[in-house]
Amino acid sequence: MTRRAVITGVGHYLPERVVENAEFEASLETTDEWIRSRSGIERRHFAAEGETTSDLATHAARAALNDAGCEVEDIDAIVLATSTADLTFPSAATMVQSALGMTRGFAFDLQAVCAGFVYALSNANALILSGQANRVLVIGAETFSRIMDWTDRSTCVLFGDGAGAVVLEAQEGTGSSEDRGLLSTDLNSDGRYKDLLYVDGGVSTENTGFLRMQGNQVFRHAVEKLASTATTALEKAELTADDVDWIVPHQANIRIIQGTAKKMGLSMDKVVVTVQDHGNTSAASIPLALSVGKQRGQIKQGDLIVAEAIGGGLAWGAVVLRW
Ligand code: UT7
Repeated sequence: MTRRAVITGVGHYLPERVVENAEFEASLETTDEWIRSRSGIERRHFAAEGETTSDLATHAARAALNDAGCEVEDIDAIVLATSTADLTFPSAATMVQSALGMTRGFAFDLQAVCAGFVYALSNANALILSGQANRVLVIGAETFSRIMDWTDRSTCVLFGDGAGAVVLEAQEGTGSSEDRGLLSTDLNSDGRYKDLLYVDGGVSTENTGFLRMQGNQVFRHAVEKLASTATTALEKAELTADDVDWIVPHQANIRIIQGTAKKMGLSMDKVVVTVQDHGNTSAASIPLALSVGKQRGQIKQGDLIVAEAIGGGLAWGAVVLRW
């Protein structure tokens, strides 16, 4: 028998306030048409004043626990992927732990920007395979609206707030690619590309700072690196693109999503797309798409899924799993 980490529940939460592209036309030299055609984004959600990343994460975690039919006492660990934690410390994960009423186990944040959820899934998988945990809540949650420069039209129209979560649980498999659960992971980073996407402030510099991005440069790296990491992860699982039921990509730009699918030889019918409604929610985008994809009836038990993401670092990676 082979130990596998299987997703047994998924949930998400989006803040109430929806901001349509047209709202930006009042304060910036931009148009709904530009945003829609260059990025595929139509609207995004922004957290309310005082609503924090751990608040969003807690809602999503409750929804995932409910979907898995398990109690908070059943959870051994929380891994929360975020670049926008409530405070410098403690971690947003321990705040979620407390909000859920969980008094045992351990919780920590993980920061790999937009690749955060793929990194978190891979690390939670390792915790389960090494026997350090049997059930892990893996969350991606962000309030990127807090690090936007509202005068920079090339970035502030692209990002949104939200959270998604899954319950990852140890189960026995046969060791074949027919097993449910994580079948392979592929993580990469290259710090030489820091200047393409970063926040120009932080605790050990001087202020919180704002997100800065050379969008067209990131775009160029994205399609090539995403197709490559997805293909590598499939190879590690001894599978090919033909075996894939759903690509669940990081939702940054519809043109990146389309370009990656094309490079992999996959039709857009096999891609879960939520970018039009959420914008780029960084580490939250993949678990949000998993949850919405399940709600829509797209993702079903037994489906082979490839989740792939790239972001600041640059950091990128992919996970192959059977739902
Ligand atoms: O999640 C982490 C990873 N991030 C990403 O994957 C984002 C990757 N990049 C992108 O999604 C795209 O590069 C953008 C959507 C950011 C931009 O699209 P683009 O086709 O690469 O456009 P561009 O940056 O080359 O800009 C084209 C023009 C520029 O004007 P000039 O220099 O040609 O006169 C920009 O100033 O569009 C202008 N522009 C805008 N115009 C209207 C930039 N932002 C806006 C705007 N409204 N909001």
